[in-house]
Formats: sequence, structure tokens, C-alpha cells
Amino acid sequence: MARPGAELVGRRFELDTIDGALADVMAGSFRAVAIRGEPGVGKTLLLGELAERAGGHGLPVNRGRATEFEQNVPFGIFIDAFERLAATGAPPPELDLLTAASGGGQAELDRYRLFRGVRRLLEGQAGRRGAILVLDDLHWADPASLALTEYLLRRPPRGPVLVAVAHRVAQPPPGLADALVRLDSAAVQLAVEPLGEDDVAAMFPTQPHERRTLLHRATRGNPLYLRALAETDEETLTALARQAVDDRIVPERALLDVLGAELATLAPEPLLVAQAAAVAGDPADRDLVAYVTELPDESVAAAFDVLTRTGMTAPEGPRFRFRHPLVRAAAYWLSQPGWRVHAHGRIAHYLADRHGPLLVRAHHVERSARPGDEDAVATLAAAATATRHASPTMSARLARRALQLLSDRTEPADGVADELRILLARTLGLSGELGESRKLLHDVIQADGPHRTEAVAFCAVVYRLLGKLDEARALLTNELDRLPARGAPTAKTLLELAGVDLLCQDPAAVCRHAGEALAAAEGDHDTGLVPAAHAVLALGLLQCDESDSAGTHVDQAAWLVDAAPDAALLPELGTLGPLAWVELHLRHPERATRHIGRALELARGSGLAHTMPHLLIVDAYVRTRRGQLTEALASADEALDCAAVMNAGEAVAMAMAVRLRPTLWQHGPRAALGVAGRSGEDGRPGGGWWSGLAELGRAEVYLAAGDAQGCLAELAGESADGATASSRLALRAVASVACGLLDDGRRQAGEALRRAERSAGAHQLATAHHALARVRWAAEDPDAGTEAARTAVTRFAEAGSPVEEGIARQLLAELYASTGRLGAAREEFGRAKVLYAASAATWLSAELARDERRFAARAPRPRRSDENGLAALTTREREVVDLATAGLTNREIAERLYLSPKTVETHLSRAFAKLHVRSRVDLTRRVTGSG
Ligand SMILES: Nc1ncnc2c1ncn2[C@@H]1O[C@H](COP(=O)(O)OP(=O)(O)OP(=O)(O)O)[C@@H](O)[C@H]1O
Ligand SMILES: [Mg+2]
Repeated sequence: MARPGAELVGRRFELDTIDGALADVMAGSFRAVAIRGEPGVGKTLLLGELAERAGGHGLPVNRGRATEFEQNVPFGIFIDAFERLAATGAPPPELDLLTAASGGGQAELDRYRLFRGVRRLLEGQAGRRGAILVLDDLHWADPASLALTEYLLRRPPRGPVLVAVAHRVAQPPPGLADALVRLDSAAVQLAVEPLGEDDVAAMFPTQPHERRTLLHRATRGNPLYLRALAETDEETLTALARQAVDDRIVPERALLDVLGAELATLAPEPLLVAQAAAVAGDPADRDLVAYVTELPDESVAAAFDVLTRTGMTAPEGPRFRFRHPLVRAAAYWLSQPGWRVHAHGRIAHYLADRHGPLLVRAHHVERSARPGDEDAVATLAAAATATRHASPTMSARLARRALQLLSDRTEPADGVADELRILLARTLGLSGELGESRKLLHDVIQADGPHRTEAVAFCAVVYRLLGKLDEARALLTNELDRLPARGAPTAKTLLELAGVDLLCQDPAAVCRHAGEALAAAEGDHDTGLVPAAHAVLALGLLQCDESDSAGTHVDQAAWLVDAAPDAALLPELGTLGPLAWVELHLRHPERATRHIGRALELARGSGLAHTMPHLLIVDAYVRTRRGQLTEALASADEALDCAAVMNAGEAVAMAMAVRLRPTLWQHGPRAALGVAGRSGEDGRPGGGWWSGLAELGRAEVYLAAGDAQGCLAELAGESADGATASSRLALRAVASVACGLLDDGRRQAGEALRRAERSAGAHQLATAHHALARVRWAAEDPDAGTEAARTAVTRFAEAGSPVEEGIARQLLAELYASTGRLGAAREEFGRAKVLYAASAATWLSAELARDERRFAARAPRPRRSDENGLAALTTREREVVDLATAGLTNREIAERLYLSPKTVETHLSRAFAKLHVRSRVDLTRRVTGSG
């Protein structure tokens, strides 16, 4: 192979762009560089330049590439990229996840945890200086690698990281283009064009002008082609130049032909070794090549020497890598198909003997197995199982192949086929290919074997995801006719049915079916079915406004859940979301936090990724209520990540919805409107017990942004959900008042209060009173308004909702101020301020400060802060004092500030001494300047 001077010519613009991106990264930003272009145009060379320059700046570079024939190893390109890092003394722990996922070692690995892990790894590696990830030949990447790449671009690492990718034009990886567009100016895309005549002149400075022109015309400026044809005779070049007029770019075929022709000039042994190496992998293992070719070691070594001398391969440690992927492809296709199947078979055998990596084995088995080969089916089934979380697409392909091998058998398979079908159906179902999933499940149901009930249950889930609720119901009802009246399968089927009822917003049916499930599972102490049934029943009852019975069942569920071992809970983990939700409504916020915390821990620990989004959504909701806004946003973010990875559209929409309130309170209406807009774009949650929440959240944001009409429009529809009914009415009342519709407001607030009283939830009562206060104030009855606001404050405090308590206190302060009770007003402002600060409700704090300034301009000046002695306090003492005035106990203050209760006590007693006060009441008076 001709190799005239390997240095780079031309490419000024591309290199400047790369330098620009590197400079941005070193200045602290994330950047993506995407390089595309025809085969051999110089993408890899440019990535190499990038890597070298980054290395020159002292940045760590992880460089991986995909290979044409091994798209079977999940995360292959990432394994390659982090290979060097993994070989260091103390590789980052996130790499274990990657290795496990790729080896199929850890069956229950959930890929979203891995995705976040890789992002964290890059963030850690980058620190403040920067890190580079280079992914080459993305058009060949395995589906898992592609998904991870897309993820890294959609949710880029925070900090100075550069992700550079290259792929051929003809095969743009799906999803990647869109992710790059969304990155906007943080992504640069380079389309690499063939070299110009000047570049060819620079490449071959000693050749005569006419020959360079001919070379340029014959190769259309493709550098790989140029190098391959550099020594070709005039006549061939002229013929090629004539052909070239028709084709704008060099067809891959032409490149393979020249490279193949070069290979064909090799002696038989080096050629055989090249072909075996091409089948074995890139880089290829020498021993493996010897086994495949059945040549003695020395001959193989000698053959590799020849290949290296002629520039076909290069040694890489103990292995050999082809100079260019097209050289490998040429060698691969030069061999006879029958021989290739034989070679793959030998490699599979070699690896099986040595317990080689399961997925690599599966790769070769897939290409060599014969119908009816039971070992092959077992290998493929094992590989499909191992990859079902890490790489659903691959798992599906392997399972399909295994089923194909089985289908040729004359005897019906002993349940193996059904098992494979269910595996395939689950994988397809969870990655959104629902139609085929349903078909497979029906095959299993029809076969009526031991896997029937499992197939029915999952089929109902598929129907649910498809939105075909009637079909789901029919399937489950039909199954119930076949099942005995009692027992775990019956209970499970009834619970599925209740799940469908929830989606249909039919609370009465939820209660009926969950109740029947409870009866069917009676006496079952081994599974989590009984607490699950109690939890779902409690939710149904809550929606039917039967809070007392809901309370009884939720207590039962809680008690049983607390007593149940992890293993029993795992299959019913999803029902802990509704449990926490009901608990939050029925004044048990701590219990809600505890249960959702345990559920998340279990889901994380066991890789039950599909339950994560909904649990995280409930977690975000609970935390928002409890004034942990930063943590709430973190959970919502994680839910979003996780749902996006799973392609779960409904959960994505819901995760956006739970971001609304914390975003509003922390970042204000403009940011929240952005979230509301995006949540609309991603599709609205279709139904279910949570869909009312999404509407409420959006309506609240519109109102805060001054769009009361929009708020009313959002809440115009009817909702069958008793749990959120009073909150909807309350919000409508406030919006009506803002639109000047006082009568409407009065009616709605009254109705909200009636419904809240029926439900007896502290939060609902608080919300209703808050609305009432606003209506009364607008009706110029501030005294009645004050009374309602005071009740709202007490109820919000009871419900454990500090942010809303703050909002109610702020309203109370304004009401006091409007009636001239300035001391009381100041005190309430002070309390609201502390509540906001403790919840990190930044925007509300800023709004409050503005409000207070307005108030101060009207009111007589309060004592200056140095007059009440607060200036004498240290920052820490001041923080402790502020929280104490807000009514937090020492233990609570300690938790918030990450101090020990003892330290809190010390700070407080010092503050007492400095301020000359003896009690907390005195302290509050002093701090708020009242009294
Ligand atoms: N600007 C250039 N100047 C000199 N040589 C170049 C230039 N660009 C590419 N080459 C040479 O052409 C050959 C092919 O380049 P490279 O491997 O970078 O192509 P590629 O676009 O990555 O192809 P593929 O799509 O097949 O991966 C290499 O030998 C490379 O050194
Ligand atoms: Mg390349």
C-alpha cells in the first residue's frame, strides 16, 4: 500500500473550528463537535488532530471507535474509549457499571444509572480543566452506545467537557441530529469535503502538474483513494477519471475494490491471516487467529509481519489493528461466505472453551449457528437476558435469532420458546414497540402453557401503554373467568384491573377491584400483594372522597409494608408511589417521605428501572410539598432522565409537570412558563391519578405569570378526582377574582371549602381558606380575609407545607398592613421570609423583599437592624436565629444547617446573650422588630 507522507494537508477551517471548541471548553463550557463526511475523507485524521491538541493542553482524552462487524457488544465504543482509564491503578467506580453492562455480567443492571454514571465520570475527570471524549465511526455503534451518546448530548455533563463524534454521511445515527440541534451554539457540525487541487499538490509535491490533476479527477479529492491510487498507472487513472464524472462522491464499493485488489496481491498465508483477523475482531488476537487458520504460531507471526510491512495492519500491544476499517472490510468480504461461517463457528467454539465473554460469543454464534442447535439457542437466550436492560434493541435481536433457530424444530419446544417470547415481548414493550410485543404475548396466551398468567399481566400493561384500555379490561376480565376465586394470580389480575380503572378515572371501579384483590389475596403472607391492594384501595377511596376509609386502608398498607421484607415488596414496588401519595394527603408527610425513600432505594438497588420514573415523580411531589425545593428539582430531573432513556413519554410529561411548582418558587414565572411550554411539547400526561396535578401546576404558573384567563382555561374541564377537586376550585376562585369575576370567585371558594371539609385533608383546607382570604379581601372585607388567612397559615403548617405557609403568611402580612396593624404585618413578613429561605424559594424571597419595600415606603420606618442588635451576631448565629424565629425546633435547625443539635444550642444561647433576650418569643419580637 502506498503511503506517501502521512501528514495532514489543508483543513484550515476545520482545525480552526476545533481549536475554537477546545478554547471554549478550557474556558469552562461544554462543547460537542460532530464531524461527518464520506468514507476516507479524513474524519478520523481530524479527530486524531483534536485528540493531539487536547493532549498538548494537558487534557485527558478518551478515544473510542465502533467497528463494522461487532455491533453486538453493548457500549462497545465506550468500553474502547475508557480502556486506558480502566487499566489505571484506581479506575473510577462508574467504569464497573460499564464493564458489567458490556459483559452482560450483571443481569439486572439498569441503563439509566449507567448513563448518569458515565456523565458523572466525565464531570469528575474534567474537574475545572476539562476532558475529552472522542467517539469515532458512530455509524457502526451498537444501539446501547448510540443511546448513551445521544443521552450525553441531550443532558450534557456540567462543566468543561468536549464530546467529539464522527460518522459517515450516508448513515447519520438516528436521534443524534436532533440532539445536536437542541444543543444550539454548544455544538459545531463539520461536514468534511474532499480535498481540492491545491491540497493534492501539497500532498504530492514532487509529482508533475498533469498527473496531480489526473489524480484529483480520478479520486474526486478523496484522501484515502488518493493514497491508494498514488502509484497507479496513467491509463487506469484516466479510465477512473472518466467514470468519476457521473459520481460526485467516491462509492464505498470503489474503495473496497482498490483495497481488495491490493490484498489480493498477498501470498496465500498472509492473505488467510488477514481474512481470519478480519473475522476475529479489530484489533485481532494472534492466538485466536492461529486457532481459526489452524496455522502454526510462527507462520501467523510471520504473516502479521508481512501485513504490517505493507501497511495493512499495525501492532497494538499483543494484538493487531487494521490500518483503516475499510482495509478490514475488504479482507472480510474477500473471503468465501462458507469459510466465514466456519471461521465464526470456530471462534465461538474457542471462546466457549475458554469461558470468553458471553456477548462476544453470542456475536459469533449468531453468525454460525444452525437451526435446532440447542447450545446456540441457550447462548443466545442467555445473551438476550443479559442485555435486556442495558441494550433492549440488542436483546430483542438476539431473542429473535434464538426463536428463529427454534422454529425449525419439528418437536414443540418445552417452554423455552414461550420464555423467549415473553422476554422478547417485555423488551419490545418497554422500548415502545408495542404492536409486536402484543402479538408475541398473544401467542403465549394461546399456547396456554405455564407462562400464560405472566403473559396476560404483561399484555394488559402493553394495552395500557397503547391507550387501549377497553382491550386491557376485556383481557383481564376474561382471564379472571378462568382463574379460581382466590389466590395470588387472581389478586394480581384484579390489581392490574384496578390499575386500568385508575387510568380510566373511574374511582368507584378502582375501589371495587382493589377490594376484590384484597379478598383474593387474604392470608397471603409471602408476597406484597396484600399491602399493594390496601394502598390502591386507599387511593380509590381518597378519590371517592371517603377519607376515613382511605385512612384505615392506608394505615394497614403502611403497617404491612413496614413489616414486609424487601424481596416481598419488589414485585409490587410501583404501588408504594400511590401509598406515599395518599399518606401525604392524609397528614402523614413523614411517612410518605419514608415510604417513597425505601421504594427508591429498593428500585435503585435491584435495577428495577421501569418503576423509577413514577417513584421519582412522587418523590419530587412530596419534597415540593415539604419545602425541599432543590431536592425536589433533583428528583424531577432524575425522573426525566430515566423516563427519557426508557422512552416513556407519559412519564416524561409527568416529570416535567412536577418541575412546575419548584421552578416557579425558585426561579419565577418566566422559567416556569418555559417548563410548562416544554411539558406541552412532550405531550400531556394522558390520564391516571396524577394527570390532574399537571393541569393544576400549569394553571398555577399561568396565574403567577399574570395570565388569569389562561389559568381558568387550563382548569375549565371537569375532573373526577376527588383528591384534587378542592385545589382546582380554590385556584379557579383566585383566578376569577384576578379577572374581576368576584361572584364566580366567591362561589368557587365556597365550593372549594365544602369539598375540602368533606375530604378533611389539612392541605386542601388550607388551600381553600387561602382562596377565601383572597376573595374576601377583593370584596373589601379585610377582617374576614384576615381570619381566613390565619386559618390557612395554621392548616398549611399542620400539613407540613412550609412554602405555602409562607405564601399564606405573606398574604396575612399584606392584610394586616392594609388595616394598619403594622407590627403584626412586619412579624408575618419576617416569618414568611424565613420559611422561604429555609426552602430555598429564591424567587418568592425576592418578591417578598419587593413587597416589603413597598410596605416600608408606606409604613413608619422599622427599627434598623443594627438598632435591634442583630449586627452583633455572626453569620451562623444569624442563620440559626432566623430558623428559630420561624418556629423550627433545634433538631430541625440542625438538620437544615447540617449541624449537631448541640451546636445549634450553643449558637442560640450565644445569640440570646448578645441580644439580651431570654425566650424564643422575645427573640422573635426582637428579630421581626415588632414589639
Ligand atoms: N487532509 C488530509 N491530508 C492528508 N491525508 C489525509 C487527509 N485526510 C485524510 N487523509 C488520509 O486519508 C486516509 C483516510 O482518512 P481517515 O481514516 O481519516 O478517513 P475517514 O473519513 O475517517 O474514513 P472512514 O469513514 O472510512 O472512517 C488516511 O490514511 C488519512 O491519513
Ligand atoms: Mg474513520
